Amino acid sequence: METKGQLLLFGLGSQAKAWALNLRDSGWEITVALRNNSPSEKVAQQLGLPVIAIAGPELSQFKNFLMLTPDESHGQILRQLAPSILAGSRIIYAHGYSFVKESLSSEFPQYGHLLLAPKAIASEVRFQYETVGKLGAAFSLEAAIETDSDEKFLRALAKDLGITGLYPCTFQQECYADLFSEQSLLCGLLPYGALHSYNLLIKRGIPKEIAYMECWLEVKLIADAMIPLGPEKFFKMISPNALIGGEKAQGIIFDKGYQTHLERLAEEIWSGDFFGQVSATDFEALQAKVQEFWRGQDLTRTHRELAPELYPQKQ
Ligand SMILES: NC(=O)c1ccc[n+]([C@@H]2O[C@H](COP(=O)([O-])OP(=O)(O)OC[C@H]3O[C@@H](n4cnc5c(N)ncnc54)[C@H](OP(=O)(O)O)[C@@H]3O)[C@@H](O)[C@H]2O)c1
Repeated sequence: METKGQLLLFGLGSQAKAWALNLRDSGWEITVALRNNSPSEKVAQQLGLPVIAIAGPELSQFKNFLMLTPDESHGQILRQLAPSILAGSRIIYAHGYSFVKESLSSEFPQYGHLLLAPKAIASEVRFQYETVGKLGAAFSLEAAIETDSDEKFLRALAKDLGITGLYPCTFQQECYADLFSEQSLLCGLLPYGALHSYNLLIKRGIPKEIAYMECWLEVKLIADAMIPLGPEKFFKMISPNALIGGEKAQGIIFDKGYQTHLERLAEEIWSGDFFGQVSATDFEALQAKVQEFWRGQDLTRTHRELAPELYPQKQ
């Protein structure tokens, strides 16, 4: 099969694996750049992906670079490799974080910086591609060099990655929206809200199995109804008690104090403070602390006991 072009991927982590497989299956010629003695080299071999050394001279043969290493490494990688990456090359990011935090287009004006950010975890990027499903993504051409040809390129790449809905925004909008939704909803409100509700039911004598199903398992079931139905049909479909109770609760919980907290989260992102907070955080130590916290929770023990019989595991 004639290839659609060459792409060089930095890293072979979660997103990179999904991108490499989807794009290769769509006809692109994929090469992976890894650091010396990278444990990912074995993975690349198993997947039949050619590997080059990240700091090797071959870089100058490529024009399109997919930046798929952790966000904190992007600036450092570009600083190290800029002498080998030709001016006019495209650097494609899956998230706007590093570009915004480190002002990478000012530091590297010789490159076109393009954003193609799938709004899905890596496993879903592969799964939706394989099952010809649906995937949304944000894109930005604000730091492109040749806007017309870069747009054509980015749209083709998105389609071949399995993106079915591609929406424009700036790098900053994508970055801030992603950070804010993680904090205010996905990784803040949802799991900790579930925990607080579970703990209260236990305190009131509800058996742990029942509390687990109500407060953890049903998060998925309700989301599975909310997303396809949309808000209007969802609120039409739920039981009278759920509607009355939900309306009562939202009036009590989402008060002025809640709005103030939400504004504070947003303000710390928009002011740039959150970038500083991330830089000042010892990630490994924080992760160990959070793991220890959740390991000690009754909800986690109940999950371990019940998940195998209540939630089918993905193979
Ligand atoms: N994870 C997601 O589901 C998700 C969702 C949307 C967007 N994104 C975005 O996708 C990008 C990649 O995220 P990810 O979670 O897929 O990353 P990841 O799995 O943590 O990436 C790991 C890979 O990056 C390599 N790597 C790490 N530090 C490096 C360095 N300093 N120099 C060279 N290579 C390095 C690792 O090399 P070794 O193999 O040598 O260790 C490994 O191959 C990020 O911009 C992220 O924001 C991720």
